[in-house]
Amino acid sequence: MTFGDYQLEIYFDGLRGVIPNHPMSFAELESRARAALPPSVWSYVAGGASDEHTQRANVSAFARWGLIPRMLVDGSQRDLALDLFGTRWSAPVFLAPVGVIGICAQDGHGDLATARAAARTGVPMVASTLSVDPLEQVAAELGDTPGFFQLYTPSDRDLAASLVERAERAGFKAIVVTVDTWVPGWRPRDLSTANSPQLRGHCLANYFSDPVFRAGLAVPPEKDLRAAVQHWVDVFSNPLTWGDLPWLRSLTTLPLIVKGICHPDDVRRAKDGGVDGIYCSNHGGRQANGGLPALDSLPAVVDAADGMPVLFDSGVRSGADIVKALAMGATAVGVARPYAYGMAVGGEEGVVHVLRSLLAEADLIMAVDGYPSLSDLTRKALRPVCNCPAPV
Ligand code: GLV
Repeated sequence: MTFGDYQLEIYFDGLRGVIPNHPMSFAELESRARAALPPSVWSYVAGGASDEHTQRANVSAFARWGLIPRMLVDGSQRDLALDLFGTRWSAPVFLAPVGVIGICAQDGHGDLATARAAARTGVPMVASTLSVDPLEQVAAELGDTPGFFQLYTPSDRDLAASLVERAERAGFKAIVVTVDTWVPGWRPRDLSTANSPQLRGHCLANYFSDPVFRAGLAVPPEKDLRAAVQHWVDVFSNPLTWGDLPWLRSLTTLPLIVKGICHPDDVRRAKDGGVDGIYCSNHGGRQANGGLPALDSLPAVVDAADGMPVLFDSGVRSGADIVKALAMGATAVGVARPYAYGMAVGGEEGVVHVLRSLLAEADLIMAVDGYPSLSDLTRKALRPVCNCPAPV
């Protein structure tokens, strides 16, 4: 079985008169998700910072690079597996954290459905601090697939330690600290409808179930949601500095990965501070508009990481994008909006379909283009797309 065999499954189903339930293109996935989601959830997920220029640029950056096909290479066996942070991955693809994935599901339990999709596909999940269901319940659905816990570091250090401890105890295999979202970016789509899911009390289960968080409340969240949300507002934001890195490092013996790194000097500082992995991302263009597409930051980040694993997300919409990011030097590539839309249109099945489609496309591109193993995918496989005028 290869990932690409998903297409055979679909074509054979066709012989029985069965055509796929779920969209086969990102454009259709997006438009069906838009129809399926409540407008407030749609605008939160689809939107980004300011006029969303950086968000669009993240996507279009991939179109500026082309893979060079190599022929007469035996591509019949593809090898996408890798060992990362002490865990075995069947492919260098992961589910990036999506803080509202819970409410993207029709039943409101998208964190659990994502974990089940991870279990079924073997695609590792980075579970967000912002979650409808507590992290212990999410971890319990992951089966043998590795799960990582994404931490929004609270200003209350005891609460941070408690969340990390709980994640360790629940069986998460690494801690991914997001460093670009200690304050939310300027998001006009949400501002124009005064829509903040968390302020409405959504996706805060990890806080509301936490003994340290609860100890800070006069009345439990079940009795006074407003006061609990206010306490969350008071503790959510921790404007971390490099001086906090030794403390973060001391919180866990699990691999520590810093998310939101785009500058090579920041990579070197993080490395010096004892992290185990770098996560190059501009948060899908949701945080600060006017920045470089994340893909443009990736090569320098990889070079500065100098052998340390580099996770990447922001703008990935297809298997071709995954292959290009790998060729740029990413160790593994995260997808976010595509699976959030898969969740919206088909719950767990929708996410499984999106992941299988992305993996199949990436696998088949590697087969067709003559790059059958991950080690074949280097920057030599890529050329910038020529902007020359067409010949007359
Ligand atoms: C949170 O991670 C967000 O991007 O909204």
